Amino acid sequence: MIVERNCLHFSQLPIGMRTLYSGTLLVLGVGYLFAMIHIFASHAGRDGNPALSVQDLIIAYSGSKSDTRLEAALKGPMASMLPQAEQDEIVAWVRRGAIKEEFSTGTPLSVEAITEKRCKACHDGSNPHLPNLMGYENLASTIEIDTGMDIFTLVRVSHIHLFGITFIFFIVGSIFCHSYIKPLWLKCIILMTPFLAIILDIGSWYLTKLFPPFAWMVMISGAAMGVAFGVQVLISLYQMWFYKVPDELKENKGVVS
Ligand code: HEC
Repeated sequence: MIVERNCLHFSQLPIGMRTLYSGTLLVLGVGYLFAMIHIFASHAGRDGNPALSVQDLIIAYSGSKSDTRLEAALKGPMASMLPQAEQDEIVAWVRRGAIKEEFSTGTPLSVEAITEKRCKACHDGSNPHLPNLMGYENLASTIEIDTGMDIFTLVRVSHIHLFGITFIFFIVGSIFCHSYIKPLWLKCIILMTPFLAIILDIGSWYLTKLFPPFAWMVMISGAAMGVAFGVQVLISLYQMWFYKVPDELKENKGVVS
């Protein structure tokens, strides 16, 4: 049982190692918070309600079906670029069928005037990564039904997430292995959860395109990953510094399984 004997409880590890572990967990924890903020900033509010909802995820991955790309952007990531009244003005114009004659009426609330004033700074065509929205023809090209994130973007984000998240949970899990958790199956479940969750999460991005209710799976697996991360970090930090080692573990010379 050499392998088991090698896995000692935190209390048996040198202070230097515990300090290294703690620093790693703290920074990864802060990183996780920023990841949450990023998810919130890029997805919340797409359905018109500021909270992050399953509907937001459906719109992000499978498109809103009823909204055009322009409307989805106006209600989501571009919402802060213009006052509500002007946003309503553009949406109403799109809903009326984006009639060319109504594009430039010469009033300050014409779609042309609003886009000149609020969007030109970034969407004048000088940045190759942003759609050019100046003029009727350009703007009209963003008025097609929104079908959500395209497959190529999903593939790119998938491989980054699969590699990145595996590294993170390998590091956090390797540290968490030194904690004392009974029964052993519970410890194994906590260790395995994030790996299963990332597979389910990413698989569900694609499945949501085909069948929107899979957005629930994106939400649930994301939550499971977050909980597993929180549990591993908190238990590890607690057992590293504040834990009263139980008698059973002392008799065992601090070997955890
Ligand atoms: C400060 C810079 C800035 C301003 C001003 C701005 N945008 Fe954007 N816009 C961006 C960036 C950056 C992106 C790409 C990132 C993203 O999709 O969130 C983008 C993306 C978009 C997209 C494409 C979304 C997609 O589905 O790919 C649309 C449509 C859009 N903006 C519309 C507008 C409109 C309409 C306005 C004016 C009311 C506006 N933007 C003002 C920076 C800006």
